Amino acid sequence: MVWKPREADIQALLDQEIQTFETDHPRSRALFEAAGAHLLNGVPLNWMRRWAGPFPLYADRASGAHVTDVDGLDYVDFCMGDTASLFGHGRADVAQALKARLATGASMMLPTADAADVGASLADRFGLPTWQFAVSATDANRFVLRLARAVTGKRKVLLFNGCYHGNLVEALITSKNGVAAASPEMVGHEVDPRETTEVVEFNDIEAVERVLAGGDIACVMTEPALTNCRVVLPEPGFLEAVRQAAHRHDAIFALDETHTICCGPGGYTALHDIKPDTVTLGKPIAGGVPAAAYGLSADLAERVGAVMAETGPGIFAIGGTLTGHALAIAGMRVMLDHVMTEKTFGQMMEAAEAIETGVNDVLAKNECDGHVIRLGARVCYDPFVKAMTNGRHALASIDEAFDRLLHLYMLNRGVLLTPFQNMCLVAPQTARSDIDRHSGLLDDLLTALRPS
Ligand SMILES: Cc1ncc(COP(=O)(O)O)c(C=O)c1O
Repeated sequence: MVWKPREADIQALLDQEIQTFETDHPRSRALFEAAGAHLLNGVPLNWMRRWAGPFPLYADRASGAHVTDVDGLDYVDFCMGDTASLFGHGRADVAQALKARLATGASMMLPTADAADVGASLADRFGLPTWQFAVSATDANRFVLRLARAVTGKRKVLLFNGCYHGNLVEALITSKNGVAAASPEMVGHEVDPRETTEVVEFNDIEAVERVLAGGDIACVMTEPALTNCRVVLPEPGFLEAVRQAAHRHDAIFALDETHTICCGPGGYTALHDIKPDTVTLGKPIAGGVPAAAYGLSADLAERVGAVMAETGPGIFAIGGTLTGHALAIAGMRVMLDHVMTEKTFGQMMEAAEAIETGVNDVLAKNECDGHVIRLGARVCYDPFVKAMTNGRHALASIDEAFDRLLHLYMLNRGVLLTPFQNMCLVAPQTARSDIDRHSGLLDDLLTALRPS
């Protein structure tokens, strides 16, 4: 018999879990209250309040695939800094390389020898010959859109409902019943994203064609699979059809691999032989130093070069003093040469497959009719909702109360899920016992919620 939990049961359990959280985390609470005196909302960044507890955990340290909080509690980490620490916390090889660079000059306004190697390694992995750097993936995406406008002479961008590409104004958009709407997050931006952006559903190639036919789209930007509204996979041929449609209408086809780098050393692009005009990388790419990179196809690099030749390289400046500096490039070099290797990805895929199998077994045992999707080292699941093919359905299907309970139940028993989603990110150090702990807890929670 397929079933869903009762709202009242979710709420009753949630109330208990909130109490447990408060009892178990006195030091986190004290730090949160102290921070309230001088930090807006008591946190360095507002969204840090969005974790499942009534106040955020304060972290003390992290190593491999585990985090320890300031109350001395240990957690299996399936959040991994939301991809920023995907390859493991506190790595000695990365720390050593960064320390060496810091000791010999982090920022000199001059390129270092590492830069050429990093460019070559990225070109080799992603099949795009020319690279530039940014401070964050948000920043890189903003630069990609700017270059697309510069070379095409057009203003607008086309994005997919449910996307997230960072906090740039063009991407603060959603679609309500097929009508573009500004996201509530756009508060304070001077431009309404509806003036810059068209939005359609993922996997809807007819809608893509229709918007492109308007003739004012400079760039179609997407993740190869949406990862910010559950995981929505592309239907076979969809990405290639978007690429071809974009090119027919002189628009740049931009892939954001900030999250999908979890698919392999060359991301989803290399794994599925996609041929984008640009690729964006960020989060883990420099081993913890804020840095990002974006690659350009030969054709696009030539067009950008022509625009730059008109203005001069120092004038068409994209990025600032701390963009692509020696420390960031050293971080990328150690990550590319020693960490983000085939061997590391092999370990991550094995662990991610074990989670996928574990969750599937738990859902079957508990007669749940939901879904589990593995995208490389990323496993997304929902016991009660089937897999989605677009952002509209994915967003509409989210049950905030159940999700909060799931996260808090796990957290109170030593397992951190990726926040804002029911997602496990798997590191090379994730152990079999960590995976079994997660599956066991999911089983316990479903058993507790199942009406007798
Ligand atoms: C697909 C994608 N692109 C870009 C970003 C922005 O990354 P950052 O916040 O590091 O700039 C995110 C953040 O989650 C993302 O998921």
